[in-house]
Amino acid sequence: MTYRIALTFEDGATRIIDCRAGEKLLDAAYRQKVNLPMDCSDGVCGTCKCRCEQGSYDLGDDYVDDALTADEAAAGLVLTCQMVPESNCVVAVPVPSSACKVAPAEHGAEAVAVELVSDSTIILTLKLDRPDALGFLPGQYVNLTVPGTGQHRSYSFSSRPGAGEASFLIRNLPDGLMSRWLAEEAKPGARMSFVGPFGSFFLRAVDRPVLMLAGGTGLAPLLSMLEILADEGTDQPVHLIYGVTRPRDLVEIDRIEALAARLPTFSWASCVVDPNGDHVLKGYVTDHLGDEHLHGGDCDIYLCGPPPMVEAVRGFLRDKDVEPANFHYEKFAASDPVPA
Ligand SMILES: Cc1cc2nc3c(=O)[nH]c(=O)nc-3n(C[C@H](O)[C@H](O)[C@H](O)COP(=O)(O)OP(=O)(O)OC[C@H]3O[C@@H](n4cnc5c(N)ncnc54)[C@H](O)[C@@H]3O)c2cc1C
Ligand code: FES
Repeated sequence: MTYRIALTFEDGATRIIDCRAGEKLLDAAYRQKVNLPMDCSDGVCGTCKCRCEQGSYDLGDDYVDDALTADEAAAGLVLTCQMVPESNCVVAVPVPSSACKVAPAEHGAEAVAVELVSDSTIILTLKLDRPDALGFLPGQYVNLTVPGTGQHRSYSFSSRPGAGEASFLIRNLPDGLMSRWLAEEAKPGARMSFVGPFGSFFLRAVDRPVLMLAGGTGLAPLLSMLEILADEGTDQPVHLIYGVTRPRDLVEIDRIEALAARLPTFSWASCVVDPNGDHVLKGYVTDHLGDEHLHGGDCDIYLCGPPPMVEAVRGFLRDKDVEPANFHYEKFAASDPVPA
């Protein structure tokens, strides 16, 4: 029996390692060449303190209170030199990945489909060279190199982790570097590469109602999360509001409906800013965000889209004086043109 442990670092990098039943996390990490912070390795110094964000584990009682107090343990802090995982876990490591000798991995892939599903959106599907080598959490992103340019752009997986093919929903910007390559040059069979995964915007354990808010291609990471929720099931209500500018920008509707069929507690609505046309719900995502979705703040919110949309939702919640139990968001900010 082995467990999958996702180590998320301060700089947004993630590495997924295996941990054998009964093995301490620090030992499992070293076995896989991840040098987690440590000093005594004996539960005395506290140097290896991390936060377990998801999953169950045993801490034993061989550590001293100076290294980890009872209050810290109750709050989810762990000593990795003592922690024995008892399920898959997500552990936040409070240092950059480089401090643990973890370099973000480069992955090769072949484009198998480049579909212009609307004039504003492209779905890119890649066949991964080494699917087993790519561990990511639903919601995370990679930096995809624009072939022939030495530059990269960030894209969130819309596909589920663990699949042999990875897909992305990509906004087609008229003068965009990646957009133009995809719309005009990309062909099935083209070689591509990316670095990652990155990001702290990923699905956490579902203990209360979940509200997902997507703007445009911000739908992508939420689809990846919904795939996992549909696989694993949940008793909690999950509601998605998906907003776009024009009716023709709505994509992946069949896929959302298929997810709704697999996950009985899932409901969703789409809205369109354009006042013309016959789409039922008009306006912004916030125009369709009711008290019934916010549960007085007892909900986990996942919000993703262009920066103005993310800010608008944050302002809306502030004005309503709603403080969600957990609030995760990702802004699809424009990339700086940096070399890949
Ligand atoms: C963490 C993260 C995850 C992301 N995930 C996705 C994703 O899953 N899908 C997706 O479509 N995008 C995503 N993005 C945005 C993406 O990385 C690119 O910025 C975007 O696709 C534009 O790339 P481009 O090369 O086509 O255009 P560029 O050559 O970068 O830009 C062309 C022009 O468009 C402007 N521009 C760039 N981005 C935007 C924007 N969002 N809105 C308005 N104008 C813009 C630029 O300022 C520039 O003038 C993500 C960004 C981040 C930071
Ligand atoms: S390394 Fe010292 S307490 Fe874990």
